[in-house]
Amino acid sequence: MYKIVQKEQFSEKVVKLVVHAPRVARSRKPGHFIILRIDEHGERIPLTIAEADTLAGTITLVVQKVGVSSTRLCNMSPGDTILDLVGPLGKATQIDKVGTVLACGGGVGIAPLLPIVEGFKKAGNRVITVLAARNKDLIILEEEIRQWSDEVIIMTDDGSYGEKGLVTTGAEKVIKRENVDECIAIGPAVMMKFTALLTKKYQLPTQASLNAIMVDGTGMCGACRANVGGQTKFTCIDGPEFDAHKIDFDELISRLGGYKEQEKEAWEKVVE
Ligand code: FAD
Ligand code: FES
Ligand code: MG
Repeated sequence: MYKIVQKEQFSEKVVKLVVHAPRVARSRKPGHFIILRIDEHGERIPLTIAEADTLAGTITLVVQKVGVSSTRLCNMSPGDTILDLVGPLGKATQIDKVGTVLACGGGVGIAPLLPIVEGFKKAGNRVITVLAARNKDLIILEEEIRQWSDEVIIMTDDGSYGEKGLVTTGAEKVIKRENVDECIAIGPAVMMKFTALLTKKYQLPTQASLNAIMVDGTGMCGACRANVGGQTKFTCIDGPEFDAHKIDFDELISRLGGYKEQEKEAWEKVVE
């Protein structure tokens, strides 16, 4: 059992949960994720480890309500327990001293970006971070990201905070202004697709962290397969990060929508 020790409501639909999981906290690295099940009837939910505190033995998860399972998790309270939680899963982010890193985070993708930004900064890089969301309420972890970034550019679709526009507008401004050595993009698949198209134009090496549908998380079920450079890769064990210029984002987007009817049915049952 894994106890929720702290909860913070970032916005109506985004919640931060601090969970007691000492062994995971000790061994996690930026880029790792966990899979949890709330109870014996629960779906397996993959979530990135946004932060960890080895002394307190806790990991931080940032969860957005998108359907039944994420909403159930977001509605839990400090003191409640999660039945099982496995991790750290996936490959850790390749963090080297490369020079200048452009980090792009969209919506709840800002959470997995946080430890990566911290890692690149601690490795001695100049880090410029572009945070993008539909509106001001969905810009999360700004203070924590600022702590590890040389510059933060905020973009909102509706202009309610920072500059009005998409992540690509902020990213292109930086690429045109100065030499950038590497880019990392994490967010909705469509946001990563357009970031990859932009950076390809400038031949800027880019990594994207894929949020493919996962079941076991250990390379056995094949649910998370993605086409990278014409090869089938399993996001859970070969990723979640891949060369963004080689990812078939259209296939990923189509596979992400593969269970829409069942998800809608499950949601309607809960709401009824
Ligand atoms: P549903 O109504 O069942 O589905 C809504 C949509 O969520 C689906 O259309 C699909 O695109 C996606 N989804 C559904 N089931 C899964 C699944 N088993 N695996 C992946 N995607 C699914 N979300 C966060 O809020 N915070 C995170 O830090 C985070 N990190 C992730 C890291 C990885 C490696 C992956 C693969 C996904 C991550 N996600 C994260 C996405 C999160 O797992 C899904 O939002 C969640 O599983 C949706 O479940 P649901 O029942 O609430 O929604
Ligand atoms: Fe089953 Fe990756 S989640 S193979
Ligand atoms: Mg679900």
